[in-house]
Amino acid sequence: MAKVKSWDEMKNLQKQAQQEGQGKPDEWVVVVGMATCCVAAGADEVLTIIHDDVKKLGLSNVRIVETGCYGNCYAEPVVEVRKGSDAAGTGTRYGYVTAARAHDIVEKHLKGNQILEDAVVGKDQEVYIP
Ligand code: FES
Repeated sequence: MAKVKSWDEMKNLQKQAQQEGQGKPDEWVVVVGMATCCVAAGADEVLTIIHDDVKKLGLSNVRIVETGCYGNCYAEPVVEVRKGSDAAGTGTRYGYVTAARAHDIVEKHLKGNQILEDAVVGKDQEVYIP
């Protein structure tokens, strides 16, 4: 990866990353925290389950994205679900995502449009959105 040489170059890269993370208005965007600590807490298994379940259920309106630290390190693994038209960081954020909860996110939220209220974290917390 090339070295970033200026603030403008950094801002352009940020804009490009935000555009790449944006989905279509009618699709779900599922963002899985995959920083080292997240992976140590089981995020790689969660990511695999979400990929597999989306495929098994034939959900074609789901985009799965990996990201770094969410700032909800106390609740790893963390998964955010939002509509493609919503800004990053404004979706429903699930924490302590186990294998069973990962299956539920796909079955209930992505397929059934039902939020898993007891699994939501970070409601009262300011979220860092670069
Ligand atoms: S390092 Fe995983 S949420 Fe912070």
